[in-house]
This record gives sequence, C-alpha cells and structure tokens, in this order.
Amino acid sequence: MVFNSLGSNYNLAYVVKSFFTSRTLGEGEKLKKFLNTKYDGKPVLLYKGREAIKLALDLCQFPKGSRIGVNGLTCFVVYEAVVEAGCIPVYIDIDKSLNFSSKALEKVKNLKAIIIQNTLGNPVDIAEIKKYCSKNKTILIEDLAHSVGTLYSNGMEAGKIGDFTTLSFSQDKIIDGVSGGALIVRNKKFNKGLKEIQYFDVSSIRRFKDRLYPILTYKVRCLYRIGLGRGLHFLLKKIKVLSQPIGGRDLVLYHRLPHWYSFMINYKFSSFDSELRHRRKIARIYMEIIDKSLLSNDLNKNINQSSNIRYPIFTENRNGLVTYLKSHRVYVSDIWYDAPIAPRRMLAKTSYQGECPMAEQISKQILNLPTHINTSAKEATRISNLVNLWRSTNQK
Ligand SMILES: Cc1ncc(COP(=O)(O)O)c(C=O)c1O
Repeated sequence: MVFNSLGSNYNLAYVVKSFFTSRTLGEGEKLKKFLNTKYDGKPVLLYKGREAIKLALDLCQFPKGSRIGVNGLTCFVVYEAVVEAGCIPVYIDIDKSLNFSSKALEKVKNLKAIIIQNTLGNPVDIAEIKKYCSKNKTILIEDLAHSVGTLYSNGMEAGKIGDFTTLSFSQDKIIDGVSGGALIVRNKKFNKGLKEIQYFDVSSIRRFKDRLYPILTYKVRCLYRIGLGRGLHFLLKKIKVLSQPIGGRDLVLYHRLPHWYSFMINYKFSSFDSELRHRRKIARIYMEIIDKSLLSNDLNKNINQSSNIRYPIFTENRNGLVTYLKSHRVYVSDIWYDAPIAPRRMLAKTSYQGECPMAEQISKQILNLPTHINTSAKEATRISNLVNLWRSTNQK
C-alpha cells in the first residue's frame, strides 16, 4: 500500500518528534545559519513558500504591472504570489522537460524577473537562462519548491545562482516541515528593504492543525491496512482538522515561522542526503522497469541530477490507470499538475488564456509515482509491474 501524499514523507520517528517535542527554542537561528551557508545569502523564514516568492518581488520594488515570467506548468500559489506583489504573470510554455526552454524564453520581452522551478526536480538549462537574464537585466528567482538537491548541467546545486532563492517546506515537499518557506536574498543590494517588512504570527489554530497533521495522517495510513483508513480520512476532512496546503489564508501578510516548524525542517535536512539518494534509486527502478512508451526521455536523461520529488509517467488514459492502481492499493490520484496553473479547480481564477498548449497537453497525461521514504524498492518494483500489466491490457 502506498500513497503519493497524505503525510507520506513521515516515518514513526518524525511522527513522535513532531507530536512530543516541546523544546524548540533556537531552531529558527539554527535553520537560518544552515541556509545561509548552503545558499550563500541572507535567509528569511516564513510560513509558506508563496510568501517567499512574494517577498522576493516586493524587495525588487518593481513598478505596478511589471511582467514576471513563470513556468507554463505551475502551481496556483505561484500565480497568486506574483499577483499579490502587484505584478503580471507571463506564462511561458514548457517543452517535454516540463520547464520552459531558453528558446521559448527568448521570444518573451520586457520581463522584470523570471521564476524558474526545475519542475519535479528536473533541471532547467541554467546557462542559457542566466545568459538571458544578464543580457536583459532580468532578476532571476530560483524557486526550489520541487528541487532542493537538483544539480544543473554545470554540476552546481540549484539555488546558488539566482538573485533570490525561495524554498517551500510544505506537506509533500522534499524537506517537509508540514509548512514553512524561506527566502534567501543572494543579491545583497536587496537586503536593505528587509528592515521595512512587517511580520505577523501564524494563528494558533493553524499551528495546532499542523502539529496534528503528521500523527493523524500516520494513523490514517496505518488504518488503511485494516480497511478503516478511508473512513477516518473522510471524517478528518469533514471536520476540517487536516491541514490543507492550498487555500484558506491571506497572502497579503508575511508570517514569522514558529520554532517548531524550524525544528522539523532541521530534522529533515539532517537526513536529506540519504533521502535524496533514496528518491534517485526509486526513480531509477521506475525508469528501468516501466514500458518505455509511458516515459519521457527528456526527464530520464537527467534522472541522476534531478531531486525526483516524484516520478512522472504519461498516458492518455490517466483516469483508467489511477483507478487500476487504486484497486491494487496504490493511491496516486493527487496529480502534479493537472492544469497549466494547477490545481484545475483554480485555473478559472487566474488570468491564463490558453498561452501554453504544450502544458495543457502534458497536464492531461501526467501521472506521478511516489519516490518518498515510504516507497520501498520492492513497492516501486510492484508498482512498475502493475503499470506494465495495465499497459499491456490497455494498448491505447
Ligand atoms: C512550483 C511551486 N512553487 C512554490 C510553491 C509554494 O508552496 P507553499 O506556498 O505551499 O509553501 C509550490 C507549491 O506546491 C509550487 O508547486
């Protein structure tokens, strides 16, 4: 039994720590020191990755209505952060690498900044992007929500090149602290604006829900084994105790990150290298076993550089495969991304107007397989064989 999300980054040790730890003072400073050394810039800890994107744009003090390039396949919260900063998102269509290419970027003019995101961990062509930014005096924001640990083709780790680096420590991210975000101001000229930023506290209800999230999702996953998980999951959602990653709060404000989140984030960073190796190993199993017609060469060629936050496969009959896998206790209905600006239910709330045909096509076909610590090599092999079996009986 395996899930794409639902607290899948947590093991028992994480659950125990998250629930019982009370002494977390000093953890924020420890995390800031770590991020400062790792990404060579001034870190600001926030409650969400989207706040970090908005803060980067606010610090730039662009005129209202400035154009910001975003990946044609992205999350609604990225759109939201750009708009809340008073800017206009310019959607740049992707190619099969799930990122926009430098060729597509070249065609877009007058961008004040671009946000690159190394979708699902797959690295962008950083040399060309950097060239574009230098030529056009465009600010470069490296959004590592998917790609902590990704390596660019020059061997450099993502997050050490742009003017700003943003991180998300939300549920199901590579470094999962239930919630959290960080901005690293790498270009010193933007540091001075930081003094004027006002921060608010995260509400105690949110903190309470976030603290419960690891133990509740752990229980749900355990109870699935004896057939009671679905009922508990439904109930927890119904009474709204399960913390949700999207919606429900005001992005106009910046929030201080309480120490408890930093504690969990520091804990996750302590096992980061081994988790990254695990994700690569699992992704390689999928790549080696699954029928090649469902895979993307453009992604597979970078598998050893990618953070492999999930392993995407592609099929016209995605719903059929999701249902088939579910019948074998593999729960992968949580799709990243099911629309150019995802989730699909939010697309109508954006300014998107069909600018990204390739992203539309890919978002209809993509299905992500899990690579997190609770996916064993044996389970990945079983999933791969199931996918092949399904494929052989559904030739379309
Ligand atoms: C590309 C990308 N950037 C940023 C974020 C921000 O994450 P959050 O604000 O939930 O921390 C997400 C969330 O999924 C994302 O997919």
